[in-house]
Amino acid sequence: MPSPNLLLTGATGFIGFDVLLKALEEGWVVRAAIRSISKSGSIVNHPKITALGRSDRLSFVEIPDICDQNAYEEAIKGVTHVVHLASPLPSPFLDPLTAIYEPNINSVNAMLRAAAKEPSLQKLVIASSVFGNSPFPPDVSQHITAEYRVPNLPGPFDSMMPAYCGGKIAATNAIDTFAKENNPSFDLAVVFPGFVFGKDQRALKIEDFMSSTNRILLGIITGKDADSPMPAGAVHVDDVAKIIILALKDGAPRNIGTTVPHVFDKAWDIVEKHFPKAIETGVFTKGSQATVPVNWDASQTERDFNLKFKTWEDMVVDTAGQYLELSGKEKA
Ligand SMILES: NC(=O)c1ccc[n+]([C@@H]2O[C@H](COP(=O)([O-])OP(=O)(O)OC[C@H]3O[C@@H](n4cnc5c(N)ncnc54)[C@H](OP(=O)(O)O)[C@@H]3O)[C@@H](O)[C@H]2O)c1
Repeated sequence: MPSPNLLLTGATGFIGFDVLLKALEEGWVVRAAIRSISKSGSIVNHPKITALGRSDRLSFVEIPDICDQNAYEEAIKGVTHVVHLASPLPSPFLDPLTAIYEPNINSVNAMLRAAAKEPSLQKLVIASSVFGNSPFPPDVSQHITAEYRVPNLPGPFDSMMPAYCGGKIAATNAIDTFAKENNPSFDLAVVFPGFVFGKDQRALKIEDFMSSTNRILLGIITGKDADSPMPAGAVHVDDVAKIIILALKDGAPRNIGTTVPHVFDKAWDIVEKHFPKAIETGVFTKGSQATVPVNWDASQTERDFNLKFKTWEDMVVDTAGQYLELSGKEKA
């Protein structure tokens, strides 16, 4: 096996698995850092991976605790590029402080610490979020781009959204401080995705599909009325993964927004247009997710990379289509 040149964290996740596929397709030799080595089998034997025929370019390293400040010291050795995605999303089932806020900030600090010591490193790409540089709670009067920054949140981090936003903001600010104080020999890029939707490349059955942010979208088209409003801003998983791979290249911008404006409940109109039979047969029923308007502008990324982001309609069609496919229900 050739020596790995790309360390990827979060490869078992929604975005990370798509990044892994694209990286292997592009010819990268990937060392995937995973929480438990027992998960390597489900990646290496996944039909999408075997179909590529590049398993000889994929190896694994176990990192049981991403908050350990020495977590990545061994894993990063010898690679030229890193994509850091591993961190928890907001979840009511996780302790907000220790299982959401702390892993989001501590894993980034651990990665920066390892990167600073690795002479072979040329580029480190880190996933933040549109929440990582936005006022919390959202403020629609503020025009936000990837260059915009907000001060760290004071806490307390005792519920999932403040904990997630606080962790992402602290991590974004820690990256800036690191770059300013250390003048690193490698390049840094930070990617700011909106809510991510679209075809989940990992999913082989319907339960797999529900483990991603797609479940928010699915709620709207399967009759669930969400309790709390969510900020606007969404991106197709294919776009985020593509942009993360592009961010590895020399000359890519330092701050990269990946989000388009959207209104959650318009998902229903899109499903009515594309899947009328699934509505007729009761597979899709109308739910609701209120949207808080946000003025986050990622159009610079379209100009920088000469591409057009997929639309909310594309995300809904791909997610609803995969749901129908995996649940064995006929597309209209
Ligand atoms: N999905 C979105 O809407 C969205 C939007 C903006 C930014 N992001 C960011 O993009 C990154 C990837 O998101 P995703 O949607 O791919 O999330 P995901 O599907 O939940 O995957 C998260 C990945 O991080 C790993 N991970 C989570 N908590 C961990 C912990 N405490 N210790 C070790 N590993 C841990 C998971 O490993 P296991 O499989 O072992 O759990 C998995 O590989 C995250 O940084 C997230 O904040 C996501």
